[in-house]
Amino acid sequence: MSQSVNQKIIKQHESSLIGNYGKLPVVLVRGKGAQLWDADGKEYMDCFAGFGGAILGHAHPALVEAITRQAHTLWQVGNQFYTEPQIRLAEHLKSKAFEGRAFFCHSGAEAAEAALKLARLAGGGRTKIISMLKGFHGRTMGALSATPGHAQAGFGPLVPGFVHVPFNDFAALQEAVDDETAAIIMEPIQGEGGINVPGESYLPRVRALCDQYNVALIFDEVWTGVGRTGKYFGHQHFGIKPDIMTLGKALGGGLPVGGILAKPELAVLLKPGTHGCTLGGNPICAAVSAAVFDTIEKENLLAHVGQVGTLLRQRLEQLAARCGIIRQIRGAGLFLGVELDTSDAMPVVLAALEQGLIINATQKNILRICPSLIVTSEQVHRAADILEKALEACLGTSRIATA
Ligand SMILES: Cc1ncc(COP(=O)(O)O)c(C=O)c1O
Repeated sequence: MSQSVNQKIIKQHESSLIGNYGKLPVVLVRGKGAQLWDADGKEYMDCFAGFGGAILGHAHPALVEAITRQAHTLWQVGNQFYTEPQIRLAEHLKSKAFEGRAFFCHSGAEAAEAALKLARLAGGGRTKIISMLKGFHGRTMGALSATPGHAQAGFGPLVPGFVHVPFNDFAALQEAVDDETAAIIMEPIQGEGGINVPGESYLPRVRALCDQYNVALIFDEVWTGVGRTGKYFGHQHFGIKPDIMTLGKALGGGLPVGGILAKPELAVLLKPGTHGCTLGGNPICAAVSAAVFDTIEKENLLAHVGQVGTLLRQRLEQLAARCGIIRQIRGAGLFLGVELDTSDAMPVVLAALEQGLIINATQKNILRICPSLIVTSEQVHRAADILEKALEACLGTSRIATA
């Protein structure tokens, strides 16, 4: 039997790339909005947006325009010079999150490194950092030390001074905070951990605890930032602000951009020579990032996320009511988790892929459905229809009652 184009390219990949990623058997070659096409011409509905990076979908005209314009103007000059796109991006962060100062790098992990280093400087000798079980902050040594669980396996010794407590358990956190504590780092809503939304009062209490002990509160907004949850930043659902916020994924609209925003009184501690990133905030990436925020504003996408997010949730709730395998649906905006009553959600992910829908599984039994912010109502319905078919393919039609 002749090989498909997908299969041929996958073979080439395997003989020349390191196998550190779990792979799905598809070669993607083209995207437009929330649609993708593979090397054999098959179309997919993209409901994962490249782990959230393609926040405005694929080939958004405003981002294509921004990258083209900047590519014709100025590429890389180094951070010893002032460049204008960085300023525009930082101003977006300040005006949309809180009055702070920004630093730019390439990834969420690097943003965590910058935040952790800054928190230790601010700690004035206090070095303890508290992070959350099931939290995720990246795979570099500092970020990994704040990321308990299987990601750490085989990589010790890790950076000393990190302790972990259960998420959404205020008593455990209160117990862990002491005179040695420099910072608490956590996601406002956990992503890799399974789209875990804390109780309403948890984050305000954490904020108060940090104020009481003069501990820096770092919110990792790498998943929840840049409009994904229907507000610009996840913490805005809880009426409080962090001292330092980390960003990645969606910040570059699909280009590698990470960054932090820190309160001015902390930010001043990162003096020349204390930290840096050669390509961080380079004109092309920064211009595209700034255009991501311009576009969210111009196209009123936060309101749109509210509408399509509600629609997606309703469709999933309807499916849950008819199908015994869905335990819970949780999340905010277009950051939704579907907890399945099974030990492994991967067969559902593969069946969905087969039917032309891209979703993801985390923590073994939780589906993550996170399309780009530009997804339409019609596409949400299509995605829900395909998911239903995928569940039927895995479970048999008998387990799904007809509508
Ligand atoms: C909440 C969170 N923080 C940080 C990271 C690390 O980001 P990156 O892969 O860009 O280093 C991730 C990656 O999934 C994440 O989900």
